[in-house]
Amino acid sequence: MPLRRELHGVIIGLIAGLAIGSIIKGMIIKTEIRDLYNQISDLKRQIAVVKVAIPPLRNLAEKCGIYIGAAVERSLLDIPDYAYTLKQEFNILTTENALKFGPVHPQPDTYSFSDADYIISFTERNGMKVRGHTLMWHQQLPSWVAQGNYSREEWINIMREHIMTVVGRYKGRIYAWDVVNEAMADNGTLRDTIWLRNIGPEYIEMAFRWAHEADPQALLFYNDYGAEGLNVKSNAIYNLVKSLLEKGVPIHGVGLQMHVSLENPSNPQEVAANIKRLNDLGLEVHITEMDVRIRMPARWEDLVEQAKMYRDILRVCLSAERCKAFVMWGFTDKYSWIPGYFSGYGAALIFDESYMPKPAYYHIAATLIEHLTKK
Ligand code: XIL
Repeated sequence: MPLRRELHGVIIGLIAGLAIGSIIKGMIIKTEIRDLYNQISDLKRQIAVVKVAIPPLRNLAEKCGIYIGAAVERSLLDIPDYAYTLKQEFNILTTENALKFGPVHPQPDTYSFSDADYIISFTERNGMKVRGHTLMWHQQLPSWVAQGNYSREEWINIMREHIMTVVGRYKGRIYAWDVVNEAMADNGTLRDTIWLRNIGPEYIEMAFRWAHEADPQALLFYNDYGAEGLNVKSNAIYNLVKSLLEKGVPIHGVGLQMHVSLENPSNPQEVAANIKRLNDLGLEVHITEMDVRIRMPARWEDLVEQAKMYRDILRVCLSAERCKAFVMWGFTDKYSWIPGYFSGYGAALIFDESYMPKPAYYHIAATLIEHLTKK
């Protein structure tokens, strides 16, 4: 009997001990979580204070004589944080999809301008410029074009009517057009596209001439990727735009897309040399679609590395004779084309998914300030 009682005592003691232990542990964990929460809120407050102390990027960029911006989607402009950050930070926007052939001209006789109209009036209300993207490309074509069977003359008419209508509609309101996008293959020959096959290499100069006719004020750009530094492709693009200029084709600039990754950075000296040779032809350069994708999950060191890549390219742009716009392909990691197109990659932009500035944001601000204090 006494043994059993003792055993009871021990068991009850054990249970009580465990119960009290777990209550105490629960309290400790709760305090730890609360501490962590307080620390995070504090950090957020500090970030907000630092952020208020830095002038918006657009103010700094304006003083440096360049435009800074992002590609945008019409539907996202209804999200208050999205619209607010754009207005606050940028002075140039690119239409990410709204003005591509498929979205804007879905049927031979139907144009769908409402998204682009909305974006453009947003920019006008907020004192921003617009980059129109893009007139002649081999992707995002409507099926009546992609699967169309027409004579050469009909293809030329399709192109002409499209360019005159789209560029004409926004005459005087679009600062720069990406007239021809990605027409060069990586090996330095013209890319085999529906336009090249059906019209021939002349489609490029035709596009520039009609765009100029439809809006003589707009700056007209050739835009491409993988041709930022010095390589076969950028040499071929250099030769192409040089020959266009020699023929008197109205082309005013070259867009360097700058979709890069941590593993595959652009060499800043080469980018500087490429911009210089284009500027020497009398052409302006824009960085048109920069993002720096990271293999997920992104570590803090990756974000710091990414920040340096944004800084290096912005520095090159600022010290060039005529690199007048620095545009990113979006601005918040919440909405970026990267995760959908490069599996396993993300975190490519300068604000995180909750619109908090990342190290890249601060490096960009610091680089603009550095340029202003050097002047
Ligand atoms: C991308 C858009 O971001 C995506 O939303 C769309 O689904 C595909 O196109 N180079 C270009 C851009 O010139 O038009 C592309 O944009 C990204 C690569």
